[in-house]
Amino acid sequence: MVLVKACMTEDVPLNEMREFVLMDRVILIANVDGEFYAMDGTCSHQFANLSLGSRDGFIITCPLHGARFDIRTGKVVQGLGPGERVNDLRAYPVKVIDGCLNIEL
Ligand code: FES
Repeated sequence: MVLVKACMTEDVPLNEMREFVLMDRVILIANVDGEFYAMDGTCSHQFANLSLGSRDGFIITCPLHGARFDIRTGKVVQGLGPGERVNDLRAYPVKVIDGCLNIEL
């Protein structure tokens, strides 16, 4: 595990989400009511950019076909129909240090 600086806290405004590329990985960071969460930023179905999706609480909905993931765990909470494989994503701990968001990759 390595702690990687992503941005300043103000770069992810309240109740918004942003995409970052950290150590060659696409990471989605969301500010949910002032708490920060991070998970993989690419959908495991057909690789859509999840930062272009929508968020309802901790649930991120993929913009392409609507699979839903819990950003706290990366787990699929709503998949697609039979034959459409959607795998869990990885969630990452976020540490706020001196106003910076650091992601434990
Ligand atoms: S690419 Fe995300 S649900 Fe299909």
